Amino acid sequence: MDVYVQLAYLASVACFVVGIKKLGSPKTARFGNLLASLAMLVAMIAALLHHDVVDKNWIYGGIAVGAVIGIIAAVRVQMTGMPELVALLNGSGGFASALVAMSEFHQTPIADQDHVMLVSMGISILIGGVTLTGSVVAYGKLAGKISSAPITYPFQNFANAALFMAILAVFYPICTTEGPTWAMYAMFVLSFVLGVLLVIPIGGADMPVVISLLNSYSGLAACATGFVLGNQLLITAGSLVGAAGMILTALMCKAMNRSLGNVIFGAFGAADSTGTSGASGEKRSVRNYGIEDATMILDNASTVVIVPGYGLAVARAQHVAYELCQILEKNGTTVRFAIHPVAGRMPGHMNVLLAEADVPYEQLIDMEEINPDFETTDVALILGANDVINPAARDDKTSPIYGMPILEVDKAETVMICKRSLGAGFAGIDNELFYMDKTMMIFGDAKKSLTDIVAGLREGDA
Ligand code: TAP
Repeated sequence: MDVYVQLAYLASVACFVVGIKKLGSPKTARFGNLLASLAMLVAMIAALLHHDVVDKNWIYGGIAVGAVIGIIAAVRVQMTGMPELVALLNGSGGFASALVAMSEFHQTPIADQDHVMLVSMGISILIGGVTLTGSVVAYGKLAGKISSAPITYPFQNFANAALFMAILAVFYPICTTEGPTWAMYAMFVLSFVLGVLLVIPIGGADMPVVISLLNSYSGLAACATGFVLGNQLLITAGSLVGAAGMILTALMCKAMNRSLGNVIFGAFGAADSTGTSGASGEKRSVRNYGIEDATMILDNASTVVIVPGYGLAVARAQHVAYELCQILEKNGTTVRFAIHPVAGRMPGHMNVLLAEADVPYEQLIDMEEINPDFETTDVALILGANDVINPAARDDKTSPIYGMPILEVDKAETVMICKRSLGAGFAGIDNELFYMDKTMMIFGDAKKSLTDIVAGLREGDA
């Protein structure tokens, strides 16, 4: 039986690796997700066949409760609320690892607890606890349950240093003796405090990066628990999650041209992100157009690039955006969607949104590939995007987003921007593009504006 269990573990690890690889492309992502889920099922069945698993009724009960909560959460969550859900899932994963390590500490006879096991328990409890409370704070900030502004307090650095020393002081007896029970519990408490203190000084706007980092932590906690249990599957799967989360965090930072240190300690997003009509407060004029003008220009365009952003997700306008695309294509216009790696609020946000509306993957073009084509594009149609098209990131060395790669829509012949106001985006800064001569501002909710444009085009065709 043991051989079959080990073989099943090996098969699931292989499927996890292939599944993650397949997530790299929108075309294969669904298959990758399914494969990784199946691998998890195989791993769970194999673990249950293991001879020393406790009373299985508890496990069936846990699976039933977890499945009900998971299904309800997955069905009810809005696409814009996905980062919050992921935060809670990360926190639960990290905490589960810490609890398993703690229960193992109580169950294993002292004589059988070697140093590797004790250190692994300490690490699992530390990282698992940090992941739980850090994720709960991240969830609270994103869901607006607590202030999303960076929360700072007097002697903050001193408090962090004291906490760090306390963790080391508790870790020492865990490593050098049989791990006294008080030290393990103290580690639990300190890790909870650390998780809160690490995340509260970070602005709500940076939470997606923090969540990705906490996701990586939950993997590391699982990996450490794998050492505690001597379970190779958990070690491998935990390392995969840890490494994948870390790589994703690095990619997100790179796409925003910021360092991880700047995200964690920079209090970015503290600025009022409701936006103003000009950094200096001066009044500037924009070219405000109506739906009829937009309809006419789109009707006459031969190439259109649609640029989706966070506002498209807020407006839930992905279906009508694709409807517009199909009408224009019927007219003989070439239409493509330009995807910026950090458009929206989570990795792949725009890909998921547009996939929901059945936009073919071939029409989603990555930033590097589409940028050279803007010069020959008649209309760049911006739907609720702001920072990812801000030329200041390319031209203004003093801009907080200077260096962040952008979609160079300002090179298109006409730039059409659908948003509700001159309000700023995530970075809380003004956008020079709104004031350019070639820019047409179509103020209003993106879904409403697009619906009206689609109606106008249909009327014209009739
Ligand atoms: P943003 O710069 O955040 O701009 C979104 C715009 O959507 C706002 O200016 C808003 O303007 C508009 N909007 C909101 N609701 C709307 C509605 N119902 N209809 C039409 N427009 C609406 O978005 P972006 O260009 O996608 O950039 C994403 C930002 O998030 C970047 O700065 C990026 O660094 C940051 N970020 C992304 C991630 C990931 S992984 N995606 C992670 C962390 C941070 P109005 O209020 O005027 O309508």
